[in-house]
Amino acid sequence: MQLQDIKLAIIGLGYVGLPLAAEFGRKRPVTGFDINQQRINELKNGSDFTLEVTQEELAAAKYLTFTTNIDDLRACNCYIITVPTPIDDHKRPDLTPLVKASETIGKVLKKGDIVIYESTVYPGCTEEDCVPVLERVSGLEFNRDFYCGYSPERINPGDKEHRVTTIKKVTSGSTPEIADLVDSLYNEIITVGTHKAESIKVAEAAKVIENTQRDLNIALINELALIFNKMNIDTEAVLKAAGSKWNFLPFRPGLVGGHCIGVDPYYLTHKAQAIGYHPEIILAGRRLNDSMGAYVVAQLVKAMTKKRLQVDGAKVLVMGLTFKENCPDLRNTRVVDIVTELKDYNCMVDVYDPWLSSEEAQHEYSITPIEAPESGNYDAIILAVAHRQFKDMGASSIRALGKPNAVLYDLKYVLNPQESDLRL
Ligand SMILES: NC(=O)c1ccc[n+]([C@@H]2O[C@H](COP(=O)([O-])OP(=O)(O)OC[C@H]3O[C@@H](n4cnc5c(N)ncnc54)[C@H](O)[C@@H]3O)[C@@H](O)[C@H]2O)c1
Repeated sequence: MQLQDIKLAIIGLGYVGLPLAAEFGRKRPVTGFDINQQRINELKNGSDFTLEVTQEELAAAKYLTFTTNIDDLRACNCYIITVPTPIDDHKRPDLTPLVKASETIGKVLKKGDIVIYESTVYPGCTEEDCVPVLERVSGLEFNRDFYCGYSPERINPGDKEHRVTTIKKVTSGSTPEIADLVDSLYNEIITVGTHKAESIKVAEAAKVIENTQRDLNIALINELALIFNKMNIDTEAVLKAAGSKWNFLPFRPGLVGGHCIGVDPYYLTHKAQAIGYHPEIILAGRRLNDSMGAYVVAQLVKAMTKKRLQVDGAKVLVMGLTFKENCPDLRNTRVVDIVTELKDYNCMVDVYDPWLSSEEAQHEYSITPIEAPESGNYDAIILAVAHRQFKDMGASSIRALGKPNAVLYDLKYVLNPQESDLRL
């Protein structure tokens, strides 16, 4: 197959698939496929609830069409799969969406077709878990009748600077020729170039370690914050001082949530365990990062007790629920750990987040956010997410939401050090 022969489909139009489909859709015909009819209806109306693609950008993708109908995929010959790769309740990889999407493609796969996976997985997943599904359903043989590629996505939801086209992309293919073709396909839209990896496994491993490294770096800084808090040393001040050295990495303490950083390391540790290696450092980092919500509440309770504020029945305002600032993404947000822990102390918790879909918060976490906080109403306020609206409010407006003696905990260094009672 030559580049000009490619008839592209993108399977799964979420945070990753839609921006990709919109970029390709400016250049060539693209069939955007999703199993979620409501999502497809919204996209047909030009609206993206993830806020990753604007109405204008969708309109500019004039060769992009949307469908939930598998028959519309039959005219395609190259499929990019961008479905979720979550973990289950036991923190094991849940490959269900990936397997189901592979089954869908298996039903329409023809001789010569190429299936490119973008979802984050462990090394070996494409060839060991997905290819057998494609072969079983299609009756075709891998690397004789059809081929695969793997090109992990690196986008960062809410980040308007690092976009699909301006992030260098790792590509790979199941044969050298397919690797070249996959690479040139992505080069059509990526303006900053690609990195063609030696194999699919190398590309898979590269993606999963990018996020594992980030998780571990944050875990180290979280551990340092626990130490410095015990010593009454301001962690941010220490990080600023250490950051004056050219090779000190600028990580900050905090909750580690979201669809990637807190999840992807488990894909790697699962595979490691499956081949008989029991990771120590990676899982220690995960444990520490997952315990930060309980730590934050323990800190708050101590501070409230010192001010002789009664914790039982206290009114606490949690500002921000999304997993990161300036985006509506609620997936795997660890702010819920703070809310749960506060409720265990019998606190009355109000959650306020101007970015939130109230229905989603209710659906995902049974949390009903408030429309707007009432002034002078709270015994404690936790600034949990650094949304720009909170930055714009400033310390005095935020303090005004609390009672005169309320504790203000600035988890994200939104305020100057002296403006809050507690920082991480
Ligand atoms: N969100 C990020 O920041 C990010 C960044 C890099 C990589 N990734 C990885 O990209 C992959 C996709 O993540 P996302 O954030 O876009 O997920 P998402 O939940 O936003 O979107 C996934 C979409 O796939 C659809 N879908 C699910 N099963 C399907 C199926 N069988 N057939 C067709 N469509 C199906 C869903 O309806 C949804 O619209 C994951 O592996 C994730 O780890 C995500």
